[in-house]
Amino acid sequence: MTALERPPRAPRMHLGSEAQPPTGKYQWIYLWELPIRVMHWTAAVAIVVLATTGLYIGKPFFMTGGEASSHYLMGWVRFLHFSAAAVLVTTGIVRVYWLFAGNRFERLAALFPIRPRDWANMVKQVKYYLMIKPGDAPQYLGHNPLQQLSYTGIYALTAVMVVTGFAMYGQSNPDGMFYRLFQWLVPLLGGIQIVRFIHHVSTWIFLIFIPIHVYLAMRGDVMERSGTISSIISGGRFVRSDVKYVDE
Ligand code: HEM
Repeated sequence: MTALERPPRAPRMHLGSEAQPPTGKYQWIYLWELPIRVMHWTAAVAIVVLATTGLYIGKPFFMTGGEASSHYLMGWVRFLHFSAAAVLVTTGIVRVYWLFAGNRFERLAALFPIRPRDWANMVKQVKYYLMIKPGDAPQYLGHNPLQQLSYTGIYALTAVMVVTGFAMYGQSNPDGMFYRLFQWLVPLLGGIQIVRFIHHVSTWIFLIFIPIHVYLAMRGDVMERSGTISSIISGGRFVRSDVKYVDE
């Protein structure tokens, strides 16, 4: 073999190589209405701000010189944390309202895996994600059962953050509304340090969830070729017309 003759390259393997090619008839379906899309991205930004400022509050990893009163660094970081907390709570109120006012893909029954059929399909969905049976995923227009379970979990985790956060926030003013509303939690959990610990550990669960969530959204785009990521911007995605969907 001369220097100019190279050995043939191995076929390029990529994640989507086993997925069906994007042929056939597709139709665009509208899933996520404007309040859900706006709420999703607002909450995403708020959570990034809360995690960053929160980790700084817990362990201030850098400091500026001079008197604290002159730069007020921790004060501003706490202000940012509490402002983002207010934004997050607002998105939570919108989400709860939309559990009842939203379309059938956004309502309570579609978000929480409450139907037996969804529990049965969850096993198949896990095998699909683990590439054990890549061709056997139950087809859903809205959230598949594993998404239902993980989003229920992330909303529950957000609720934990909100109540533990407000329990800590209330401590600064025992005459205030937040103290009266959330103080019951402190003895229940065994003291303010436990409240703080749960708030801190839950942050790491968020930080683990985020890359998995982004990976699965990108994976859905590549494997199903349906525009999953753009659906949370445009509201809809492409689905094959010749497939029977569980939640049609
Ligand atoms: C309504 C929602 C929330 C409220 C009211 C809230 C409130 C608070 C308060 C009062 C503190 C203590 C601040 C201090 O001691 O000066 C705190 C600390 C913290 N927050 Fe939040 N928070 C909320 C949501 C979140 C979220 C969503 C995250 C992360 C994704 C987060 C991450 C943290 C962390 C890491 C700390 C430091 C804990 C430590 O001391 O190690 N918070 N938060």
